[in-house]
Amino acid sequence: MKLCVIGAGYVGLVSGVCFAALGNTVVCVDQNEDKISQLHEGKVPIYEPGLKGLIQDNVEQGRLTFTTDTASAVEGAEIVILAVGTPSLPGGEANLSYIEGAAREVADAMNGYKVIVTKSTVPVGTNDRIHSLIASRTSYSFGVASVPEFLREGSAVADTLQPDRIVIGASDPHVAAVLCTLHEPLTTNILTTDIRSAEMIKYASNAFLATKISFINEIANICEKVGADVTRVAHGMGLDQRIGSSFLSAGIGYGGSCFPKDTQALIQIAGNVDYEFKLLKSVVEVNQGQRFNVLRKLEEALGDLEGATIGIWGLAFKPNTDDVRDAPALDIMQSLLEAGAQIRAYDPVATANFRRLLDSSEVTWADSAREAAEGCDALCLLTEWEEFGEVGLGELNELMKYPIMIDGRNVYSEEQIRQSAFAYYSVGRPQ
Ligand code: NAD
Ligand code: UGA
Repeated sequence: MKLCVIGAGYVGLVSGVCFAALGNTVVCVDQNEDKISQLHEGKVPIYEPGLKGLIQDNVEQGRLTFTTDTASAVEGAEIVILAVGTPSLPGGEANLSYIEGAAREVADAMNGYKVIVTKSTVPVGTNDRIHSLIASRTSYSFGVASVPEFLREGSAVADTLQPDRIVIGASDPHVAAVLCTLHEPLTTNILTTDIRSAEMIKYASNAFLATKISFINEIANICEKVGADVTRVAHGMGLDQRIGSSFLSAGIGYGGSCFPKDTQALIQIAGNVDYEFKLLKSVVEVNQGQRFNVLRKLEEALGDLEGATIGIWGLAFKPNTDDVRDAPALDIMQSLLEAGAQIRAYDPVATANFRRLLDSSEVTWADSAREAAEGCDALCLLTEWEEFGEVGLGELNELMKYPIMIDGRNVYSEEQIRQSAFAYYSVGRPQ
């Protein structure tokens, strides 16, 4: 099939490449000229494991191209996929200006029947609005569908090629059939449903996962006070198939470009129809507080943080990505700076992106995990990059001024800690 994907970000680029890998002809469009020139030069503007090689293969096979010219890409496509951003507005509502802008450009480039698919996460009713918007600008007939995306950053290629399920929201059986054919090579688990339910499935899924995280974080906070171990509690809970073991890792709360904005947007979607989503409001509140436990524990260990040197391991909101949107590290580092601390920070791939959000003469940007730890009064592990677990605690002790570790991701085992000299503060485990 001939596809055009509008928005070559974490979702659009990965989806476009994976559809090309299935044998489709794909044009990825982005209005950001720098992104498209990088792609033309064989560079990948985001860090995502496995993506670079897959792009190279599909470009070489002539199935994948990149452009800033939306009109020509749309003209040549049977299926147009909208994968532009839907960030939060200041009140929490989803900003639909990019999706509406893209829909207008598609409408103006129509030259025949096309299926127009929204992959971006959009509030319930948005696809109906997109339908009206396009219909008001073109006389060509077209179909609209909601096919929400469920990939995770850091494992986006694998998630796209082996999804748990594909949800196709479409009111027109022809549109549903075309999209089933497109997605069939990926999974047999395809759910076809109505458009509004598809839009809601996306928000409800993210909100539920966020709820699991805030739930286990609250259990962790209680565990700390009653002397239980949240990792054992989560393991024991997860053995019940009705609960499931995933998304029960206690830590410093969820970040990223999705859970924070999508929970806020769902609260707004409910509020717009006079429904107060109390449970989800609490999930958000718990999440906002969780990251600051790192500071509380630092103060418990060091007292006043004025003049202290604090090491930070991990700036990305999760491992295997360079995405720093809503990363807990940002709030934590800002608070440390306000408290008068000096920071030595390191992330394997996200430092350049992070420095665009926060730069200060009080922060030393280290080139390695060991360099960040040198001379620190305490070290905070904020993202569970695999390479951090490879640094032995004995070696770390020699590098640091004091052997104090705030492990926000429960990376080190009880045994490792017992054999070390570290004053070790983790999340929801006996200190
Ligand atoms: P992103 O910010 O990485 O990429 C969006 C891209 O769209 C940008 O490169 C931007 O330049 C481009 N763009 C905006 N308007 C355009 C236009 N009119 N024409 C061409 N390009 C345009 O965003 P993302 O993280 O890929 O997310 C996209 C959507 O997918 C969001 O709605 C998000 O909620 C959803 N989503 C994201 C993830 C994820 O893990 N990032 C997962 C599932 C769903
Ligand atoms: C999440 C969802 O998992 C995807 O299904 C969805 O498509 C995506 O949002 C989206 O809508 O954009 P992502 O944000 O990339 O994907 O990453 P996750 O693995 O879900 O992690 C999100 C955050 O939760 C991270 O900060 C992570 O550290 C935290 N987390 C996750 C925990 O604190 N505990 C857990 O048990 C799991």
